[in-house]
Amino acid sequence: MQLIEELNVLTSEHNHALHGDENKTTTQDSFTGKNRKLYIESYGCQMNFADSEIVAAVMMENGYDTTSDFKQADVVFLNTCSIRDNAEQRIRARLKQINAIKREKPDMTVGVLGCMAERLKSKLLDEEKMVDIVAGPDSYRDIANLVGEAEDGNRAINVYLSREETYADITPIRLNSNGVNAFITIMRGCDNMCSFCVVPFTRGRERSRDAHSIVKEAQDLFDKGYREVMLLGQNVDSYKWENDSKTEKVNFAQLLEMVALVNPDLRIRFSTSHPKDITDEVIYTIKKYENICNYIHLPVQSGSSRILDLMNRTYTKEWYMNRIDSIRNILGADCGISTDIITGFCSETEEDHQETLSMMKYANYDYAYMFSYSERPNTPAAKKLVDNIPEVIKKRRHSEIMDLQNKISIERNQTDLNKIHKVLIEGYSKRSNDYFQGKTTHNKVVVFPKENYQKGQYVNVLVHECSKATLLGKILA
Ligand code: SAH
Ligand code: SF4
Ligand code: F3S
Repeated sequence: MQLIEELNVLTSEHNHALHGDENKTTTQDSFTGKNRKLYIESYGCQMNFADSEIVAAVMMENGYDTTSDFKQADVVFLNTCSIRDNAEQRIRARLKQINAIKREKPDMTVGVLGCMAERLKSKLLDEEKMVDIVAGPDSYRDIANLVGEAEDGNRAINVYLSREETYADITPIRLNSNGVNAFITIMRGCDNMCSFCVVPFTRGRERSRDAHSIVKEAQDLFDKGYREVMLLGQNVDSYKWENDSKTEKVNFAQLLEMVALVNPDLRIRFSTSHPKDITDEVIYTIKKYENICNYIHLPVQSGSSRILDLMNRTYTKEWYMNRIDSIRNILGADCGISTDIITGFCSETEEDHQETLSMMKYANYDYAYMFSYSERPNTPAAKKLVDNIPEVIKKRRHSEIMDLQNKISIERNQTDLNKIHKVLIEGYSKRSNDYFQGKTTHNKVVVFPKENYQKGQYVNVLVHECSKATLLGKILA
């Protein structure tokens, strides 16, 4: 039992959803003989991490290598997240630390990129004087020029949001890569106006990337040895691309199929699905291709139709349950489902909260990301509703949903016991180099003795033990 408890702690980070503020990654060292050093720290969701790979590509074109030590860097970027207040607080604390170092190393140029740059714009330069560069998510082609401007002592800010930019032609430099899993951004921005959410303001209008550039990126990754791609967008089900002459139109189900056909040994995942937009066609496409993982992240946010309406999610509790039914009917029990939940939204009553708990039981989620509502300035909820649930009640409801989800997750994992799962090996387990870890099609992390296998291979693993976050097994010869 000791091992499985330790594994619990070590693998509790799930890596799929666009969930925001807990994550952080940094650049690693690269030595291609360039003159200058770039250090990027990325916060927030996978889309931000994928954007940092675009930024690294642009900067490498312009004479930079990456470093893992910001003290060695000529240029330091923080690619930031604004999704909840604590995400921004964390970045402010980090900027203070970096500024302390900068006092001893005044030549170092510091830039804030991403969602917080877009939200706060020139405030970061003028009022707070914490940075040299402010660059929003659609400005990364311009990023090396901004560095040049800052180094010449000029104002370096670009927070222009584009209706077209998808960086389709830029090949990302994979950062922190295990050589097996990679992100592919398929669209940018968001046209929904969920009342609590800052993303439409920080990322701008929704636009879909050229389908052929996505397939090409997937093919290139496969050729380089990658075996799993995650297609990223805030609302992948509304992906819609057409060519200039409008003779070719591709929706999300069709895009999934195009990527699945790259190679049967390339696994496909995607995030995030929106309950109002996920179609049966998408679910049937998942069923049709073995390499499209049987796993759907379907954020519910609340189980109460009244709260969903205030959140402007544009679906009801019944609609959401119908989507769960469709997934279970078409894919059987053989589909992992996870969700996002916000607790303590404006005016949420005890009854609303109970409805969320019963929705969790109904959907039987494998995993859930659970957040206390954090009011974001200038969002529709901040303008029209009152953040009136006291912090203690938010906390209590949050721990009630967490307790319930832990119980459900363990029950769900127990159904995997004594079964054989096809696992893609992603690398060493965090605890020991004698063990590998990888994932099942349902996005469950499995840890097993490595024997003579290599990362990037598929193996059949018999699972014999589980915890709420991890399965433990043994490769079958
Ligand atoms: N596009 C995705 C979500 C992106 S943000 C979707 O529509 O599902 C990731 C999650 O953060 C959201 O699903 C939501 O649960 C949470 N979130 C967003 N804004 C929040 C806020 N103001 N307070 C607390 N949680 C929030
Ligand atoms: Fe935010 Fe809603 Fe868009 Fe998701 S769909 S990014 S929650 S506005
Ligand atoms: Fe992502 Fe955070 Fe921006 S969740 S889209 S980095 S606000």
